[in-house]
Amino acid sequence: MYFDTHAHLDDGRFSEDREAVIREIFDSGVSLVVNVGADMEGSRASVQLAAQYDGIYAAVGVHPYDAQAMTEVDLAALRELAGSPKVVAIGEIGLDYHYDEADRDKQKEWFLNQIKLAEALDLPYIVHDRDAHADCLEVIRKSGYFRGVMHCYSGSSEMARELVELGFYISFAGPVTFKNGKKAKEAAASVPSGRILIETDSPYLSPEPYRGQRNDSAKVRFVAKEIAALKGMTEEELAKVTLENGKRFFGIE
Ligand code: NI
Repeated sequence: MYFDTHAHLDDGRFSEDREAVIREIFDSGVSLVVNVGADMEGSRASVQLAAQYDGIYAAVGVHPYDAQAMTEVDLAALRELAGSPKVVAIGEIGLDYHYDEADRDKQKEWFLNQIKLAEALDLPYIVHDRDAHADCLEVIRKSGYFRGVMHCYSGSSEMARELVELGFYISFAGPVTFKNGKKAKEAAASVPSGRILIETDSPYLSPEPYRGQRNDSAKVRFVAKEIAALKGMTEEELAKVTLENGKRFFGIE
């Protein structure tokens, strides 16, 4: 039984066949999925999917690219939405310096505000960190609230160790299976298995051998398989420990 801790099944790329895809996901041995909001609309859609399907839970939050336009009104709306049934985290929130379009100070401000929202609601949070490792750590430290997971981890083993010491979980996605994914493989090998989560970030980042195609939660097994090999565990052991980790982290019974 697998737990895909980060998917976007509300994405437009599933609009033609969403029901069939979700049925296949649960038939494939996946028992739990957290559908993650990236903006207000996606957050609402995540709550709706969670209401519709037993195995789907929701995270609500605003991604750094959209967060720069966030207002106090949005934050209040997010707080209300977070009170919906089966909302288990605030996310995805964080910093993204990849295209250098979004104002960095605004990103930091709304990252911190959303961590504070998670703390106020006694929820964990899901961090998106792209090319912003040092500043992400700085904001996290400044917040003083460390019930977080780094999603699709792309940092170093040293940074992973620092985060784990703070109390963080580290989540790996398709890139850990890529031939050029040496850094992610090293990090996955170094993180204690009790702090690892697995995810797809679908429809993005399909693992090998599906790289480049539309991703979905059923493909989380390829991430599990790779990490199991890196840690000298069987795929079943890795699936079991990451399922337990995910339930503990998100507070799912
Ligand atoms: Ni995502």
